[in-house]
Amino acid sequence: MAVTKDDVLASLARVSCPDGSPLHKSGALSDVLATDGKVFFSITVDAAQVKGWESVRKQAEEVVRAMPGVTSAMVALTAERRGGTAPARPSPAGSGAAAPRPAPRGEANVGVPGVESIIAVASGKGGVGKSTTAVNLALGLATLGLKVGVLDADIYGPSLPKLLAIKERPQTLGGTRLKPISRYGLTVMSIGFVVDEETPMIWRGQMVISALTQMLREVEWGALDVMVVDMPPGTGDAQLTMAQQVPLKGAVIVSTPQDLALIDARRGIAMFRRVNVPVLGIVENMSYFECPECGTRSDIFGHGGARHEAERLGVPFLGEVPLHIDIREKSDAGLPVVATDPDGPHAKTYREIASRVRQGLTVAGRAAPKIVVEA
Ligand SMILES: Nc1ncnc2c1ncn2[C@@H]1O[C@H](COP(=O)(O)OP(=O)(O)OP(=O)(O)O)[C@@H](O)[C@H]1O
Ligand SMILES: [Mg+2]
Repeated sequence: MAVTKDDVLASLARVSCPDGSPLHKSGALSDVLATDGKVFFSITVDAAQVKGWESVRKQAEEVVRAMPGVTSAMVALTAERRGGTAPARPSPAGSGAAAPRPAPRGEANVGVPGVESIIAVASGKGGVGKSTTAVNLALGLATLGLKVGVLDADIYGPSLPKLLAIKERPQTLGGTRLKPISRYGLTVMSIGFVVDEETPMIWRGQMVISALTQMLREVEWGALDVMVVDMPPGTGDAQLTMAQQVPLKGAVIVSTPQDLALIDARRGIAMFRRVNVPVLGIVENMSYFECPECGTRSDIFGHGGARHEAERLGVPFLGEVPLHIDIREKSDAGLPVVATDPDGPHAKTYREIASRVRQGLTVAGRAAPKIVVEA
């Protein structure tokens, strides 16, 4: 028989809060989602008490996992400031629900142990080359001597397994922690490894916090100078929630030169500004077309739009990447240009972009206001 929300709540009666009261009556539980044997929910507590609740979260997950008919259970612990605004709850993607209010970046700013800086690669619009940029930027940062990780957080269409030709699944360490995959010197994890391909789209928005928490806190990332996060396209609720939940040092916006894409890029910049994440700059992707036969260049999308936009908005312009068949073919074959053609012109372009991003991070690090979680 299918597991229902009431079954889950009944089994949670066996789990106690730190003060001894039963979890299901504590008021800390989010709505419980249960379908096809998969169960998700979150526990929201005061930021000052997070430590005491971690064992409650674990126990809740274990109890639910042990229920007959449950194939997977994910329980996230999210923090709110005492007397402050609760963290935004993700609403179902495409539900048309009002966007969550910008919440203080409380627990999110605690950071991931061992990871110096986390940056998002984002775009307002899909298909502009965000994942391609994220991978090659990460490789470019690695060539600068940094230890780099990549987190594919695109819940709607994880693409890192394809871009990096990853066929294997991450191993589990000690029951719950995941060992990331290594590729071209990068430490890689994809949300695609924990979100089932069969999961209906409407659920994916709901799962953002659980899946992200798991990716950030339950993966053995090791010591990293930079973690590059490939975000899902768009500026909806799910993206805003992610921007709030991931302790970001900065964001890189990818846009094509077209007007329409630029309008979306503007929305992306506005979204990060709203949650106090510094925008490290804009990359103009598919900036101009370079004929692979004769090398002739044509500005099919009206080259230069992103540079002007960056100037207008007062954010750095990070560089132009041409629309080139080598980039597409190599990306789609899991052979990113920076790693497989390091002496070529595209690798050079990505390394220059990486170097500007690193410079921006140093500046952002100096200028970033310290957000302290109230105790
Ligand atoms: N500069 C480029 N030259 C040629 N092809 C490119 C370039 N950048 C990206 N592409 C190709 O465009 C397609 C979309 O790129 P990519 O998947 O990186 O975009 P995305 O913004 O991450 O898309 P999504 O919104 O679906 O996540 C891919 O086939 C990729 O190989
Ligand atoms: Mg992508």
